Amino acid sequence: MEILELKEEAINSINSVNSLVELNNARTKYLSKKGLVSSLMANMRNLSIEEKKTYGAQVNELKNTIEALIKEKEEYLNDLKVKEQLEKEAIDVTMPSYSFNEGTMHPLSMVIKELEDIFLGLGYEVATGPELECDEYCFEKLNLPKGHPARDMQDTFYLDAEMLLRSQTSPVQVREMLKEKGKPIAIICPGKTYRRDQDDATHSHQFMQCEGLVLGKDITLADLKGALLVMAKNILGEDKKIRLRPSYFPFTEPSVEVDVSCVKCGGKGCSMCKNSGWIEILGAGMVNNNVLRMCGYDPEEIQGFAFGVGIERITMLKYGIEDIRNFYMNDLRFLKQFKEAK
Ligand code: PHE
Repeated sequence: MEILELKEEAINSINSVNSLVELNNARTKYLSKKGLVSSLMANMRNLSIEEKKTYGAQVNELKNTIEALIKEKEEYLNDLKVKEQLEKEAIDVTMPSYSFNEGTMHPLSMVIKELEDIFLGLGYEVATGPELECDEYCFEKLNLPKGHPARDMQDTFYLDAEMLLRSQTSPVQVREMLKEKGKPIAIICPGKTYRRDQDDATHSHQFMQCEGLVLGKDITLADLKGALLVMAKNILGEDKKIRLRPSYFPFTEPSVEVDVSCVKCGGKGCSMCKNSGWIEILGAGMVNNNVLRMCGYDPEEIQGFAFGVGIERITMLKYGIEDIRNFYMNDLRFLKQFKEAK
C-alpha cells in the first residue's frame, strides 16, 4: 500500500473510532510489529540508498502522525469517559424532593401534653403506674375493702381474684404515697384506664384519666379549687368558671364534683348543658384520712386533695367532638384536623 493511501486510511479510521477498545485495535493494526507501518518499512529492502532516505523519512512521518492521532484520540476518549461518569453520578441539589405525609399529634396526646405543661408550671411532677394493677392498690388502700358497695361504681376487668386492669388512675396515688413515706407530694398521673362499659358515643371500655394529688401541711379545698380553675381556664378558655358540688367518693372526704361553665353557651343555658349553664368535668375531694393512714401518712400532720379528670371528656368539650369512638377509630380525616399549636 502506498504511504499516502495508508495515511488517508489511517486518519479516516482513527477519526471514526468511538471507543478505547476500537482505538486499541487501530493501534495494533497500524503500529504493532506486524502492523501496516512496519510492513511499509519492509519495502525499504528493495530501494536505493537515496530512495531509502526519502522513503524512510516519509514512513517515519506517517508513523509519527498516526501515533499523534492515536494519542489525541485516546485523551479525548478518556476525557469523555470521565465526563460521562461525572454526569451520571452528579446530584442535582435543586431537584424538588418527594412530598411525604406529615403525621399529626393525636388530640388526646395534645391534651395530655397541655395538662402536663400546666401542672409542671404549678410545681407538680408527672408520675405513672402500671395498667395491670392489684386489687389492693386500686381499691383496698383507697378505702374500698372487698365487698364495698361503691365498687359497683366501676365495673372492673379482673384477671384473677387479685389482679385487674385498673379502672381509675387513683392507684398511682397509692403507689406514690407508699414511696414518699409521709413526705409532701404534688403529682399528676395521666394514663389509660379500663371499665366493663358498653361502647357507645360517650362510653368506652378503655379511656384515659389524669389523676392529681397534692399532700402537704395546711392544704385545703381552696387550693384544690385554685388548681382546677387554672386547669379549666388553660384547657377550655380564659373565660371559664368552675363550681364545686358535694358528691361521694370512698377515697375523699369531703368529695366534690366539679362543673365548668358551658363550653357552648358560656353559661346562658343551651341543649348541651341542659339549660343549666354548667357541665360536669371531674371528681375530686380532700384525701380521706383512712387512705392517708393506710398509705403511711399521719392525717394530723399532712393532708391534701386529689382529683381525677377524664381526658376524653375534656378533649371532647375542648374540640366539640361528639363521639368518643372517634379517638380510637384511626380515621385519618378525623385525626388530620388536629395540629399541635407551635
Ligand atoms: N377516680 C375517680 C373516678 O374515676 C375520680 C376521682 C379521683 C375522684 C380522685 C376523687 C379523687 O371516678
